[in-house]
Amino acid sequence: MPFDHVTLALLGEALRSLEGGFARLPEHAPRADLDALSRTLTETAQRLRDNYPYHHPLYVGQMLQPPHPVARLAYALSMWLNPNNHALDGGRASSAMEKEAVAQIARMFGWQTHLGHLCGGGTVANLEALWVSRELRPGRAVAASSQAHYTHARLAALLAMPFREIPVDSIGRMDVDALEATLAEGETGTVVATVGTTAAGAVDPLPEILALRERFAFRLHVDAAYGGYFVLADNLGPRTRRAFDRVGDVDSIVVDPHKHGLQPYGCGCVLFRDPAVGQFYKHDSQCTYFSSSELHLGEISLECSRPGAAAVALWATLRLLPLTAGGEFARGLSAGRGAALMLYEALRQDERFAPLLEPELDIVVWAVRAPSAGESSARARRLFEACAARDLHLALARLPRVMAESAAPVERWDEDELVCLRACVMKPEHRDWMPEILVRLSEAANA
Ligand SMILES: Cc1ncc(COP(=O)(O)O)c(C=O)c1O
Repeated sequence: MPFDHVTLALLGEALRSLEGGFARLPEHAPRADLDALSRTLTETAQRLRDNYPYHHPLYVGQMLQPPHPVARLAYALSMWLNPNNHALDGGRASSAMEKEAVAQIARMFGWQTHLGHLCGGGTVANLEALWVSRELRPGRAVAASSQAHYTHARLAALLAMPFREIPVDSIGRMDVDALEATLAEGETGTVVATVGTTAAGAVDPLPEILALRERFAFRLHVDAAYGGYFVLADNLGPRTRRAFDRVGDVDSIVVDPHKHGLQPYGCGCVLFRDPAVGQFYKHDSQCTYFSSSELHLGEISLECSRPGAAAVALWATLRLLPLTAGGEFARGLSAGRGAALMLYEALRQDERFAPLLEPELDIVVWAVRAPSAGESSARARRLFEACAARDLHLALARLPRVMAESAAPVERWDEDELVCLRACVMKPEHRDWMPEILVRLSEAANA
């Protein structure tokens, strides 16, 4: 399948426009050895061939897709400058663009005021949120579900915060009774609710977790690295919608523009409801912050140098595709969820498979029916390979028995976990491609 070459011409036009901003400078055009560049680039392209085809709708494996063309082009355009959003000295325009883009993400959750910034990704964004929590609740534990992203336990260890793992219910959501029992022990200062778990796209019961705050004083952080943008979708189930409607009531939120926001990697976002938490970031720098008395992004973020290009790409994407309910971007998310429901229904009708849960967002997980859990896992692994041989790229996920039992995929539980197939149908085109995906899946299963 050819890549999009047409939009490349637009980059040349935009570059000429960018040049206009520096026209008064004396001529200075570094010369490049075009032959050497060409050879190296061709060699680079050849190395890159050894990748899964993330750009193609037959890739439904991990949460991977190429950025939107506008993000790709805006990122590339800014590479002629390479802004650094640590300080206004390094990225004056791109820092302003970052502030505007982050404010638009905050408004998506109803926040008119906030403190927030972009960062390397979901892990760094969650690190900052947990670090601020630690400063506000010293010595107290972090609680997150057993389906929360694996980095939460690691981040808690890094921050020397005790960690409490809360079990999940049969549909992969944090068990609120178990959370209540943990809170009653009196040691937990922060609860992480995951709004869209990585493995199954489950949404923790936010209204019930928020209700617990009336009895226990904890900070509530939402990890919506994967799921956050679904607040704009118009086809969520009622329970999922209720959870999304309450995201704005928490203390901090993480959303990854580099997952569902159509951005190149290196673009996470952390938001705090109370701008006063900025006090924890206070530090002195010997050589930046002289160019303006305005707040520099480095004064409210843990990292120092950061790619201004990430902000430029995000800003351009939001100009083209604003975060509005019913807009083009929102319709793309709804299409992905529609594709997930189509896949789920088809799997339900197929006696070879047992989908574990009705998808809340755009991830579908299913087991291969077999006499025992061990055999089901082995069949899932074989089917994963057989699909890949037909250019249909799925993922595998290891899920606990509690999330699989109600689908009854096996007669005998000889193991407490099940390897399941997993599809992230996150491209809007997946809805149209679903019939083809199902044909290939079926052929692979027959083989
Ligand atoms: C819910 C959730 N949180 C955090 C992360 C980590 O994000 P990153 O890979 O951007 O560091 C992920 C990654 O998939 C995720 O799904």
